[in-house]
Parts: sequence; structure tokens; C-alpha cells
Amino acid sequence: MPAIVVVGSQWGDEGKGKATDALGARVDYVVKYNGGNNAGHTVVVGGEKYALHLLPSGILTAGCTPVIGNGVVVDIGVLFTEIDDLQARGVDTSRLLVSANAHVIAPYHRTLDKVTERFLGQRRIGTTGRGIGPTYADKINRVGVRIQDLFDESILRAKVEGSLDQKNHLLVKIYNRRAITVDEVVDELLELSERLRPMVTDTGLVLCQALDRGETVLFEGGQATLLDVDHGTYPFVTSSNATSAGACTGSGVPPTRIDRVVGILKAYTTRVGEGPFPTELDDESGEFLRTTGGEFGTTTGRPRRCGWFDAVIGRYSQRINGLTDTVLTKLDVLSGLEKLPVCVAYDVDGVRHEEMPMSQSDFHHATPVYEELPGWQQDITAARSFQDLPVNAQNYVLALEQMIGGRISAVGVGPDREATIVRHDLLG
Ligand code: GDP
Ligand code: IMO
Ligand code: MG
Repeated sequence: MPAIVVVGSQWGDEGKGKATDALGARVDYVVKYNGGNNAGHTVVVGGEKYALHLLPSGILTAGCTPVIGNGVVVDIGVLFTEIDDLQARGVDTSRLLVSANAHVIAPYHRTLDKVTERFLGQRRIGTTGRGIGPTYADKINRVGVRIQDLFDESILRAKVEGSLDQKNHLLVKIYNRRAITVDEVVDELLELSERLRPMVTDTGLVLCQALDRGETVLFEGGQATLLDVDHGTYPFVTSSNATSAGACTGSGVPPTRIDRVVGILKAYTTRVGEGPFPTELDDESGEFLRTTGGEFGTTTGRPRRCGWFDAVIGRYSQRINGLTDTVLTKLDVLSGLEKLPVCVAYDVDGVRHEEMPMSQSDFHHATPVYEELPGWQQDITAARSFQDLPVNAQNYVLALEQMIGGRISAVGVGPDREATIVRHDLLG
């Protein structure tokens, strides 16, 4: 199976990093195709913990080539810090490739992200403050700076000038901030460009040639289905296409070459930032999930909002991503609970919805319709085959499989690379 896409099925932090890393040894290339350092993937290898943001999770596997695709927005300073941190821990980062077409997060994007959020007040998105939205806005507005622009000073200067022209009016007159000079931005970017140069290439070409040779390419989605700018809970979303279709536009590999799409689905639901969340729990059950699941952001450290599993979202993710497989993660976190409510539909003003409501207002008012499944008391972290699981845990997995209408091919029972039950080989 040469081309496989991995996407988050909910609101992020499902354990995409662990799943990607676990496949790393059998994969030749891991491509990040959307987002930037808003992502936070915690990967645990033999008890050692790594927090990855901009770098694809394949970086931890010797022999696997990590690629930052054209759909990514790159904060170059952050990229080098992340590389340096990994190198200091003995990880070889020398194979990293970066697309010449990826867009650059400039200092003014970070500033604008923060001031816009403050200005929005109650209506804020709860962004990670990394400059993601303003950088994608410039890309769509056709005033962005691309990685390739760093190697032509006069082009770079012209582009930064074009971009700052309007923004300085905004910063000074609306947001009461100081103006940012073209020189300070250009100097900062040029200083970073030489170190970047050897990594920069036509990554779309490299990936298609790798597929031609029969090599395996894994496309690692950042964020998740409900954070997708087109298919998520807009406007409480990120600014890129985090669903499987984004893997093609964000990498330069066409849809006809994709063989498999794997959704990463948490056994319960979490969300960071603002926006609707029907199964959110404000009680001790929510606190249990947060504490037991360690649900604190890898990027911002914010406590994640927690709730029961939502099968309407699971079904939606199955459809919108065209999933061939699902990895159900963090099943171990549910151990010890007496009953496990699962949302099977929404009630919106007395009307039952089995699918995501068409309008956001309805989604905001959706009340979960729960079905209760029996829990299990045993610790399941040592389980390595489906039969090792208590029967109620097996039944929980089988019930979710029915509800989402797709097969659950692997089950996560702990943070470590090895703590996974494989039912169907994802690359077979
Ligand atoms: P990502 O953004 O989707 O890669 O997910 P994060 O890394 O932000 O959050 C997932 C967290 O759950 C990380 O701390 C992982 O180490 C951890 N994790 C992943 N899979 C499992 C699992 O099956 N069980 C447990 N207990 N933790 C897991
Ligand atoms: P991973 O890849 C969870 C959320 C932010 C905010 C919204 C927009 O680790 O799953 P942005 O900074 O992207 O403009 O913020 O999206 N968000 C994430 N939530 N996991 C992520 O990434 C996220 N990346 C962004 O909290 O609500
Ligand atoms: Mg994360």
C-alpha cells in the first residue's frame, strides 16, 4: 500500500503522532501537508517523550524521510529550534525536505494573530497564537511570502513590502501597535535562509517519483476533520484543509495515487479553544477524562475540553474523509468507569439528527442523545491482541465500529509506540 493518509477524526489531539510514528519503520516518507506549529504531537518511544510541532512524526524513525509539504505554513525560527532540540537528543534530522512553495509565517502574522484574537473578545476562536490564520489569509489573498522567495532578496523585499503596506495601517490605526519595518522582517528571514537552502526542493516531484519506485509515503494530517476550514465547525476551525482531500493539494500528489485513508479516533472526545461541542462534560466525568487521559495541550498547555464519544462526528469523519480504516486511540483511559455513554444522535429543538446538522446554529443547540454501554474495571494497557481485552472493552470497540460504519483496524491502549492492538494491517 504505497500512499496512505492519516487524519484526525475529531477536533485534534486524537493521537495522530503516535500512530504515524508507529508506522514509521515501514514507511519511506512522512509528509506534513497542512497547518504549522499549531500542531502538537506527543510521541513516546521506549519511555522517552518527544513533542513535535512543525516536524512530521516520521522524523523519529531512522531511514524515513520527513517532508514539509507546500500546504504547510512554516515558522522558520521554530523549525530550527525543533531541529536543534531533536539533534541534541540524538535524533538524525538531516533527511528533512521542505517544499519551495510552502508559505512563511512572518513576525507580522504572529502579531496579527494575537491582536485579532484580543480584538474579537467574546467572539475569539481561541487560536494557538502562532500566526497560522493570518499566514493562510495572505496566501489566499496572494500577498504571501513563500520559502523560495527567501533566495531572491529583491523579490523577498518586494513581497514583504506589499504585505506590510496594508498591515501597518491596521496595526497602527486599529490595533494601536507599532509599525513593523520591511528591513526588520527581511533581515530576520534572510538570516535564516542559508541554513534552510539545502532542505528546500520540489517536494511534489520527489514524492511522485518515490511512489513511481514503489516506495511508501504517509501523509500526516495536522489538526482534524472538525477543524477543517471547509468541513469543520466554522468559524471555530483552523485555516487549512485538515481532511484527507487536503493531503493532495497540500503535497502535490494527486487523488488517483492515494490508496488508503486512516482516521485517528479517540475513544472519547476533546477540543481545545472555543466553539460548539455537544458532548462536553463540565462535571467530574469530564475531569476524570482530562486527568486520566492527560488532556492538556502539547502546544499551548491549555486544559482540553473533554466529553463522551460522539458517533455522529465519527460517522461524519468516515464519510468526509473516505476512511478505509480507523485507529481507535486511548481506550485505556476509559478503564474503571461503570457506564460509558455514547452519543448516537442529536436532538435539535425536538428533531432527531443522525447526521451533522446542516447549519451551525443547529449544531450549537444540539443536545446529545445517549446510549449507555457497560464499562470494564481491568487495566488494559498490557493488552496486545483483541482477545486480551475484557469483553466489555471488545464490545465497546465493536459497537463504535457499527455506529461509525467503518472498520476499526487498530486500538491504542497506552502512549508508548508498542501499546497498540492491531486487528488489520494498515499497510498490508
Ligand atoms: P495528536 O496531535 O493527534 O498527535 O495527539 P497529541 O499528541 O496532541 O495528544 C495525544 C496524547 O495521547 C499524547 O500525549 C499521546 O502520547 C497520548 N496517546 C496516544 N495514543 C494513546 C493511547 O492509546 N493511550 C493513551 N493513554 N495515550 C495515548
Ligand atoms: P493537532 O495537530 C487541537 C485549534 C485551536 C483553535 C483553532 C484555531 O495537535 O491535533 P489556529 O492556531 O490553528 O488558528 O487555531 O484550532 N487547533 C488545534 N486543536 N489540536 C491541534 O493540532 C490544533 N491546531 C489548532 O485551539 O481552537
Ligand atoms: Mg496534538
